[in-house]
Amino acid sequence: MRNPPHAPCTFVIFGGTGDLMRKKLLPSLYRLAQNGAFDKGCQVLGVARDRSLTDKQFRAWARAALSDLGLPAGDRDWCDQCLHYQPVDMNSPDDFKALAARIGALEAGRSAGNRVLYLALPPASFEGTIEALGKAGLNRSKGWTRLVVEKPFGHDLDSALRLNALVHKYFDETQIYRIDHYLGKETVQNLLAFRFGNALFESAWNRDHIKSVQISVAEQTSIGSRAGYYENTGALRDMVQNHLTQLLTLTAMEVPAAFAADSIRFEKVKVLRSVAPIGRDAIVFGQYAPGKVDGKKLPGYLQEPGVTPRSRTETYVAMRLEVQNWRWQGVPFYLRTGKSMPQRSTRIVIDFRKPPVALFRTVGRRPHRNTLAINLQPDQGFDLTFEVKSPGDRFTLQTERMQFRYPEIKDSLWDGYETLLLEIVRGDQTLFVHADETEASWRLYAPLLRRRSMPHPYAAGSWGPEAADKLMRATGGDWTT
Ligand SMILES: NC(=O)c1ccc[n+]([C@@H]2O[C@H](COP(=O)([O-])OP(=O)(O)OC[C@H]3O[C@@H](n4cnc5c(N)ncnc54)[C@H](OP(=O)(O)O)[C@@H]3O)[C@@H](O)[C@H]2O)c1
Repeated sequence: MRNPPHAPCTFVIFGGTGDLMRKKLLPSLYRLAQNGAFDKGCQVLGVARDRSLTDKQFRAWARAALSDLGLPAGDRDWCDQCLHYQPVDMNSPDDFKALAARIGALEAGRSAGNRVLYLALPPASFEGTIEALGKAGLNRSKGWTRLVVEKPFGHDLDSALRLNALVHKYFDETQIYRIDHYLGKETVQNLLAFRFGNALFESAWNRDHIKSVQISVAEQTSIGSRAGYYENTGALRDMVQNHLTQLLTLTAMEVPAAFAADSIRFEKVKVLRSVAPIGRDAIVFGQYAPGKVDGKKLPGYLQEPGVTPRSRTETYVAMRLEVQNWRWQGVPFYLRTGKSMPQRSTRIVIDFRKPPVALFRTVGRRPHRNTLAINLQPDQGFDLTFEVKSPGDRFTLQTERMQFRYPEIKDSLWDGYETLLLEIVRGDQTLFVHADETEASWRLYAPLLRRRSMPHPYAAGSWGPEAADKLMRATGGDWTT
């Protein structure tokens, strides 16, 4: 058990029969309940449109889902006592009245009216559901009410502004938890510990010592059967605007005044507001073409089922950003993400400057730059390269690597969604995205969405188009893989 359990509450999961619920929310809720992190009185009410589904069938579905994930779903008690289902048509005020009554009945004798309203819905249903919740008075309760909104938060600046305005019509910002599940990852949070808990690194974390920063999220998977979603999204919206931008802000932010949600989120917004407009020559869009990995043929994006012929949707983005503030002036930040890449990897690479004096000019090899790679997945940990004297009678240099891997100190990493759910119940918004962050980030990328060029083809199974290498070489670097 982590901490004493928190006050009992009711999780109302809109989209309670969907993929996110099955793969992430349900197992996380289950594990949290099993290890005592939640009070035994916590209830989970799945909400969806299906009117034929009963509580009994919903519990059977949940048990099967948990069992598929290797969790001991034999624990019938939790499913029978804590899982419930309520059909709701988001356009029916009567259904919302019935929902309010059902929540009240579940709370009776168990909870003081503490509620998590979790929108695990298709984004097109967010606005209607928020409006219906507000009109039904479900935005307030006797205890606390917290609204959780899944990503994506808007699909451009206008829609994000509209969604924020609607949410704020019914909920205070202190009630709103916008999810970017990267923030729930242990290693992403560890960036804060690493940066601000180690004077050694923080004192060198600036333009005097750092030459460039690379933030890269490579996915090995293609879009598979998700053309319906991906055709209207693309890599800039799907990955850059949210996940890569979160990593950028955590890497570049100033030391917050306190380890508290407001202080941290304030510093993250400042980073976004300091980024210079991204020029046409500083961004490369790509789209995977047919390729091969280990002799196995891979289809191109245009060959995937459901993709429009001659689609211009990008599956790859590489860009150079400049954070124009005292700390970072002149240090390029490179962001890169792509699908159908040779391997899955998320990492931040800090490339330090070379020593300022050429002391070792005569020893056969000049020192290489120190690099710090912060691996977020799959091998979570750090790698720091440094120069040593090669053993032997000749004085020459060689590069060595110091490694830290997370599993070495902790066997099973806490799943991101477990962390996020726990923080929601605790009422700590540090790991959630503030309204100002969503807007600042869309302001930065919206102009790029409007002037997306024809993507450069790259072979599936490669690291992206040649144009992205040129972008990097223009400032004298290489992508680190
Ligand atoms: N799946 C993931 O791994 C994942 C990861 C990160 C974020 N997300 C986000 O999580 C959200 C849900 O994704 P998902 O993959 O779970 O979607 P999904 O599998 O399509 O499930 C959608 C759920 O919402 C309900 N629903 C659909 N249309 C609705 C409507 N108009 N009104 C009310 N309920 C409706 C569905 O049940 P009924 O059709 O019976 O109503 C179902 O329970 C999305 O915002 C997505 O971007 C998902």
